[in-house]
Order: sequence, then structure tokens, then C-alpha cells
Amino acid sequence: MTGVEIATVAERPELMGPAWEQTSDTFPEYNNHGDVLNHYWGRLTEERPEFQFHLVGDKGEILARVRSLPVRWDGTVADLPDGIDGAIARGFDHGEANALCALVIMVPRDLQGRGLSTHAFKAMLELARRHGLTRLIAPVRPSLKERYPLVPIERYGAWRRADGLLFDPWMRVHERLGGTVLKPEPRSLRITGTVDEWEEWTAMSFPESGEYWFPHGLATLAVDRDSDRAGYWEPNVWMQHVVSSP
Ligand SMILES: CC(C)(COP(=O)(O)OP(=O)(O)OC[C@H]1O[C@@H](n2cnc3c(N)ncnc32)[C@H](O)[C@@H]1OP(=O)(O)O)[C@@H](O)C(=O)NCCC(=O)NCCS
Repeated sequence: MTGVEIATVAERPELMGPAWEQTSDTFPEYNNHGDVLNHYWGRLTEERPEFQFHLVGDKGEILARVRSLPVRWDGTVADLPDGIDGAIARGFDHGEANALCALVIMVPRDLQGRGLSTHAFKAMLELARRHGLTRLIAPVRPSLKERYPLVPIERYGAWRRADGLLFDPWMRVHERLGGTVLKPEPRSLRITGTVDEWEEWTAMSFPESGEYWFPHGLATLAVDRDSDRAGYWEPNVWMQHVVSSP
């Protein structure tokens, strides 16, 4: 893509503020409160700034905000981290990384639907190559799953369209770039909070204990008013990409 710069946080830390402003509304509010993810998230830019980057257009505009983290992985399905939570913990707690784990790609709302995510993902593959990481794994958050919160991820992640490609648009981007499905991950990202917190994050009321659908949730929310806790497991699908040699 001509006129587009790949700027890592190590190279251009001053882009972090504007990039956050451009993309802070791309995820639903509840997604900003991961129990494990939030514990580690700040360390990505502080300790691994060379794996965090932005795509920048020729007028200096932010086209995508990307987070990734090298992890140790032996190449087997059995050794995959326990979801995105397990991946970020492994990336910081265990050394000798040999694979890059994609964590998130955010494209500003007004620029979505133009194929920018493909460029962002190709840039991540290039980053892996540059650092000698031969594999790239991704706990993919299937974007259209929010319309099918009751369907188990094991089934949803396997759905295909009539043309043979994966049903989910974001998984399809990965597939078109050579990605293959490794396994569904029903419990990838844990988000818990008080009932009040979840009511605020979702702009809903949860008057009694039970299982609730909520806007943009990929699965349901379990509410327990007696203990004043509500918990959600975001499902993902692990996909793998082979990082080609230069
Ligand atoms: C998911 C995301 C990165 C895709 O980026 P993008 O540059 O808009 O994606 P593309 O233009 O390459 O489109 C990819 C596919 O998604 C589809 N798509 C794009 N925006 C969509 C939307 N709002 N709703 C449904 N499908 C959409 C496109 O039609 C395309 O599918 P196709 O196979 O039919 O061509 C972007 O929408 C985003 O930042 N979302 C919020 C954050 C997020 O969920 N990130 C992914 C998880 S880490």
C-alpha cells in the first residue's frame, strides 16, 4: 500500500495518544475491562514497544492501531495458550518466545470496510519476519458472533458460506491471508465486575440473577445478584499463519 507508514511505538511513541483517540470507540465498553488483560495491557507499550504499531497514512492520519506480543509456543494445538488471557500472561511470564501472538487490530470507525485490516495484518506478519519469529498465532475475535451469542463457538467458528470461505468476516480476512483454524476457544477473555459495573458498561439493567444477552456480547453474561458479581467469557477462535522467509 503506497504512502502508508508502519510506525512502531518504539519508533514513534508520540502517536499513541492520537491513535487511542481515533480508535477508543471501536470496541464496546465492556471489552475494556478484562480481568487478566488489563493487568498486563500497559506493559505492552512499556516493555514490548517494538511489537506495538500504527499504520499511518500520507497525511499523518491513523489508519490502524495494532497490538501483538511474542510468546513461546511449540507448534501444537495442545500447547496453545488458554485464550488471549493465557497468551498475554505467557508472553510476559515465560521467556524464549518463538511465535508472534496477534492481540488486537483496531481500524477507526470511519475507515472500516476499506480493506485496511488486511494491510495491518500484513504489517504484523512483516514484523514477525523481521524479528525471526516463524509462526504467528491469533486468538481471533469473530466480529459477527455478536449476532449469534447463543450459538456455541465450536459451531459458529466452523460455519462456512456457500463459496466455501469462513462465515465470519474477520476470520475470513485471516483465511484469505493464509490463516488456518486451529481450535475454538470458548473461554478466551474473562471479564467480571459488580452488577452495577456491568449495568454501566452495557447500558442495561439486570434486575435478577440469571443468564443475559447484552448488546455486542459474543456470548451471554451470568449475573449473580446475591454475590453482586457478573461474569462473561469472550469466545475466540485460534488461527495460525506461517511467516514466510524474506
Ligand atoms: C475487525 C476490523 C479490524 C476489520 O477492519 P476493516 O479494515 O474494517 O476490515 P475490511 O475492510 O478488511 O473488511 C473485512 C471484512 O469485514 C467486513 N466488514 C467490515 N466492516 C464490517 C462491519 N462493520 N460489519 C460487518 N462486516 C464488516 C467486510 O465486508 C470484509 O468482509 P468480506 O470478506 O465480505 O470482504 C475493524 O472492523 C475493527 O477495528 N473492528 C473493531 C475492533 C475489532 O473487533 N478488531 C478485531 C478483533 S482484534
